[in-house]
Amino acid sequence: MHTPYKRLENFNFEGRVVVELGCGPLLGWGPMAIFLGADKFIYEEPWLKRDVLFTDEIRELYLRPLFDELTANFGARQTFEIFLEKVLNSGSMPSTEDDRVDIIISNSTLEHIPKEDLSILLLKYRQLCSEEAVYLHAVDFSDHQSREKGFGDMYEGPNRPRHGLNFLRKPDLEDVIRESGFSNYSSMVYRSSSASPSHPDWDCYEIADLEARVVLFIGSIS
Ligand SMILES: C[S@@+](CC[C@H](N)C(=O)[O-])C[C@H]1O[C@@H](n2cnc3c(N)ncnc32)[C@H](O)[C@@H]1O
Repeated sequence: MHTPYKRLENFNFEGRVVVELGCGPLLGWGPMAIFLGADKFIYEEPWLKRDVLFTDEIRELYLRPLFDELTANFGARQTFEIFLEKVLNSGSMPSTEDDRVDIIISNSTLEHIPKEDLSILLLKYRQLCSEEAVYLHAVDFSDHQSREKGFGDMYEGPNRPRHGLNFLRKPDLEDVIRESGFSNYSSMVYRSSSASPSHPDWDCYEIADLEARVVLFIGSIS
């Protein structure tokens, strides 16, 4: 909200087709995007089970309280029934050949996808982007294990993907994003932790890049 990014307005969900990569089992940003007027929500999520999403329990214990919370925050915009229908109509693929993607978001997902698969995934959505498309990827570079939310012994060993993490660092992700056809306006370091690498595999990185723990990658297609 506080960057002077000239495309900041494009993150407004109203009338946009929104994609979330790795939204998790409950559609992540989807319900909020829909509540705030997104035309369509598309997700890419191997763990999402539609038969679970469609249950009475998810409707009453998750979607209805979330709808009430969104209404309390943003005002009444639609009935719960219309909201629910749109949420349940979210798709895992663009539904028509004319579908264009306007906003791509992810939260703590890109660090979990192997580099080759990540390039394929980003390229797939790059090809669907409208001229105004923007993206925001929040990436957690920590070891996902240490209580203190740092890097644990990550930098004491070789740079080899493990624990479900691809071990890409900030500059590597910038490369993957650019090579997939996106331009990167900013890699905003939101949280840092100290790092003192002892394995030579990490020598090619700046220390600030190894200490970047949560980074917001923001940009567009040009
Ligand atoms: C740490 S979870 C984050 C979930 C959610 N975004 C959140 O913030 O709670 C990582 C997510 O990435 C998803 N994921 C893993 N591989 C993926 C892939 N190849 N494409 C899309 N999502 C993937 C996982 O299924 C999981 O839901």
